Amino acid sequence: LANERESLYLVSEYAKDYFVSALHKTEEGKAIGLTYFKERGFTDETIKKFELGYSPNQWSAFTDTAIKKGYKLEFLEKTGLTIVKEEKQFDRFKGRVMFPIKSMSGRVLGFGGRILSSDKKAAKYLNSPESDIYHKSKVLYGIYQAKQAIAKEDNCFLVEGYTDVIQFHQTGIENVVSSSGTALTPEQIRLVNRLTRNITVLFDGDAAGLRASLRGVDLILEQGMNVKICTFPEGEDPDSFARENSLEMLRSYLEEHSKDFISFKASLLASEAKNDPIKKADTIRDMVVSISKIPDVIKQEVYIKECSRIMDISEEVLFNTLAQLLQKEK
Ligand code: CTP
Ligand code: MN
Ligand code: MN
Ligand code: MN
Ligand code: MN
Repeated sequence: LANERESLYLVSEYAKDYFVSALHKTEEGKAIGLTYFKERGFTDETIKKFELGYSPNQWSAFTDTAIKKGYKLEFLEKTGLTIVKEEKQFDRFKGRVMFPIKSMSGRVLGFGGRILSSDKKAAKYLNSPESDIYHKSKVLYGIYQAKQAIAKEDNCFLVEGYTDVIQFHQTGIENVVSSSGTALTPEQIRLVNRLTRNITVLFDGDAAGLRASLRGVDLILEQGMNVKICTFPEGEDPDSFARENSLEMLRSYLEEHSKDFISFKASLLASEAKNDPIKKADTIRDMVVSISKIPDVIKQEVYIKECSRIMDISEEVLFNTLAQLLQKEK
């Protein structure tokens, strides 16, 4: 079984090299893939650093070449690079620009592939399926390129997408990773926790599911980490914002707009529930749930006091709610 995993690593590494070479050395790759990345403002250096690639727009160009090179169909299929249907073979990522997803130590585990056409029916991003080497709940895009900077800065920026990570690097901020559009998991947080106790979550300025995403943030608190939240202006995401601004402007934006998570959530909930007593009761409970996740009781007390002020509710009620919650958990 260890041998089989090794075979999956090898075929993934080969695929990464194939896609990189298709991007830089084929007419199709240059005309379509490279042009796309350049239009997004990525430099050659950035494209090389993240080993971005291109998968030709043919049914099985990659699969055929890999098989000729001696890679077994079994492993191509198990990594999801090849789809086998009625005994025919198809490239999963046909006609997409490719983002290799690496482990902390730099091994290629899987891929994200972005569509180039504006075909609304097809998914914008396709990702590798789960395999013996790729578990999407356990990886963070960019962790390999970010690990030293995270330790050095003693903070990790968490963004939504691949291109947010890449554009931050290009602008000069390297302590950044992405959960690739999925809800944050305890395993992903543990990866960061090995490097720093501080996470700043950066949300796209489309507010879609901001409240739902805040639930995931409770998982960070549970691991005793400090969490800040930073939102971007409507219609912007970290990628677009970093592209339009200098490093100095980006840094000062991040500094000015990063709010402690508990205070951020309390303000958000307080403004939502303003004149609605029933909603207000719900939001208070929601708030106390977050506070109950913090392992440090001194921090809990500090936050209760702050929430009392922000949400205009007595400390006693908050402490009682907290005690009830902690009781239930036992
Ligand atoms: N995502 C995905 N499948 C989709 C849409 C999104 O896997 N159909 C993931 C990708 O990892 C993507 C992330 O969710 O990077 C964030 O989604 P979104 O903000 O919509 O995409 P961007 O990263 O901003 O991509 P782009 O700028 O290329 O449109
Ligand atoms: Mn993402
Ligand atoms: Mn988004
Ligand atoms: Mn985005
Ligand atoms: Mn984007």
